[in-house]
Formats: sequence, structure tokens, C-alpha cells
Amino acid sequence: MKILSVVGARPQFVKLAAITDAAAQRDDVEHIIVHTGQHYDAAMSDVFFADLRIPAPDVNLAIGSSSHGRQTGAMLAGMDEVLEEHQPDWTLVYGDTNSTLAGTLSAVKMHLKVAHLEAGLRSFNRRMPEEHNRVITDHAADLLLAPTEVARRHLAAEGLADRTLVTGDVMTDVCLRVAASVEGTALALPEGIDPFGEFAVATIHRADNTDDPDKLRAIIDALKALEIPLALFAHPRLVAKAKDAGIDLAGGAVHVGAPIAYPDLVNAVRNASAVVTDSGGLQKESYLLGTPCSTVRTETEWVETLENDWNQLILDPADLTASVTRPRPTADRPAHYGDGRASQRSIDALRDRA
Ligand code: UD1
Repeated sequence: MKILSVVGARPQFVKLAAITDAAAQRDDVEHIIVHTGQHYDAAMSDVFFADLRIPAPDVNLAIGSSSHGRQTGAMLAGMDEVLEEHQPDWTLVYGDTNSTLAGTLSAVKMHLKVAHLEAGLRSFNRRMPEEHNRVITDHAADLLLAPTEVARRHLAAEGLADRTLVTGDVMTDVCLRVAASVEGTALALPEGIDPFGEFAVATIHRADNTDDPDKLRAIIDALKALEIPLALFAHPRLVAKAKDAGIDLAGGAVHVGAPIAYPDLVNAVRNASAVVTDSGGLQKESYLLGTPCSTVRTETEWVETLENDWNQLILDPADLTASVTRPRPTADRPAHYGDGRASQRSIDALRDRA
């Protein structure tokens, strides 16, 4: 059986790591990796392949950054040729990025079967490009690999129950594996933060937070006012938008660093006293690693993280200080995200239906 994975952005490389491992354990599975080139900086792409031991992509479309339409359109054109050549039994798409949408549309129009990994997540926020990418992908794909029961319910409510299978979350597979491997290793924190003291970790990159200068300023000011030092691992979009708006990211509690490798991020989060983010993956990783999270968004797709106060939604940046300094929750973190075997289950599901 031939599976062709389409990836392009940072969180997809993490999911790909789990799938690559699971595929390698099956003699009868050939796995082709296509990188759209949506993320292209070494820190956003190459280090993930190296650190997570993912083989180099078989194809790199090198599309790069652009407006949504141009970026997605260029990927579509590139994918047609790739699929024509490889004729996979399954095209596997991941999550909710423009690369997900392009891989899906190209394959279904060539009558090639598509499986959507991380299907059924919903923010119900139609301002997010990711929400459109998810919904359209789920409705076009042939097999929906849902990470959670909540995701399965969303798909059922949209009439997609027949195509749905709950596998657990593949990011959990990787997170738990990597957390065990970094135990006791040195922390990679920006200069000025004592790795043996208390600190917080932050990432901010969503268009909704970065593209309005007033909102971005309010978020950064709130981070600067925190009482404990904060490591801000700055996504290129954040750096670019802050520069355009004349906002200095560093200052006060904030120590700025470049995006870091996945094992370093996992290590930083498990040793941090708090996480502030607008990333989906990081909310969940905080939950899995037992670090309280404050999510600078009006809603989350990973609603299970909100249980027992392990994650809080921050609608107004003025609430950040209180959220970051809230007492560490003592209640359980139920295993909503599976048992660390979601990738094997996903590969088996594709084999059974090839
Ligand atoms: C994308 C995904 C988002 C995901 C995120 C993970 C979409 C619609 N969004 O957002 O869901 O959470 O990836 O990081 O697909 N840039 C660089 N170097 C890079 C990559 C990006 O400089 O390697 C800059 C470019 O200026 C670009 C901007 O970042 O314009 C945004 O990049 P883009 O890939 O369009 O979206 P992300 O914000 O990364």
C-alpha cells in the first residue's frame, strides 16, 4: 500500500513524525512525503525533520509564503503533478493549514482517496483560516481520523459519521515519547532566564492576535508586566508584524528567542510554571505535560484542556497576570487524547481500507 503524506507547516511535521514511525513498522507500507514548502525557515522546518528523525521529503514544492489564495493555488498546481506521478492508495493530510486544504482538493479531484488526520476539530470561529481549512477538508475527505470523542461528535453532527474513526491524537504519541527522551537534559531558554528558577513559556502567532497592532501591543504589554520571566519563542509572523507596528517584543518579563526544536520546546514546557499561547498544539502539550496554560483566544478546538482549569481562555490581555499566577490545578488530567498509539491505529485503518 502506498501512502502519500502532504505536510507544510510546523505542527504537521510533528504529526508526520508519528506516522512515519508507524508506517516504517509495516513491511507492506510505502510512505511518500511531500513538503509543500509553506514553512521554509530552517528553524520552522529542517530542524523538525532532523530532531524527530523524519526522512527528507521525497518532494519539496517550495511554495513559500504568500496571500492565502496565492499560496493555496500554487500548492494545488504543484500537487496535481505529484499525485499524477505517484498515484497513492491514500493521500494523507494533516490538521488545518493551507497545505491540508491543497492536498485534499488536488487528490479528490483526481479521484484519489484522502484521509484526514486530526479530523473533526472545530473552533466555530469563521474568522480563522484554519476553520475553513478543517471544515472543507472533512467534507471532501474519504476517511476521517478523529483524535477525540468530541471531534467524532462534531463530524456526526455534520452528517459525516460513516466516514469517521476515532484513533486518538498522534501529537500525543510524539509528545509522550519526546518527553521521556528529554528527561534531565539542559533547557534551551533565551538569554537572561535562569533555567533553575521559575519561568513561563509563550508563543503567539495567530493572525487574529498578530495582525491588529493594538491587540498585539496589548498582548505584549501584558506579557512584559508578568512577575516571572517569560521565554517568548517568536514565530516569524510575530516578528514581522511587531516590526511593522513598531512594537519591541523584548522588555520587562519578556526574553525573546527564535523558534526552538520540538524536543527543546517539550523540555521547556514541562519545566515551566506556566504557558501562554495561541497555538493549538501547545495547549495540548501543556495539558499532557502538566503545565497550566493560558490561551489567548476566544475559543479552543481542544476543549478537553479546559477541564479542571488546566487551560484558561484569555479574552482580554488584562486578565493574563491573574491567569498565569493562578494556583496550579491539583485535579486530574484524564487521558482524553489517547494512549500514545494513535499513529499505529491510523496506519492500520488505511491498510484495512486500501
Ligand atoms: C500556519 C497555519 C497555522 C499553524 C501555523 C503553525 C495556515 C492558514 N495557518 O500559520 O494553522 O498554526 O502555520 O506555525 O496554514 N514565515 C517565515 N518563514 C517560515 C514560515 C512563515 O518567515 O518558515 C512568515 C512569512 O512572513 C509568512 C508568515 O510567516 O507570511 C505566515 O506564514 P504562513 O505559513 O502563511 O502561516 P502561519 O502563520 O505560519
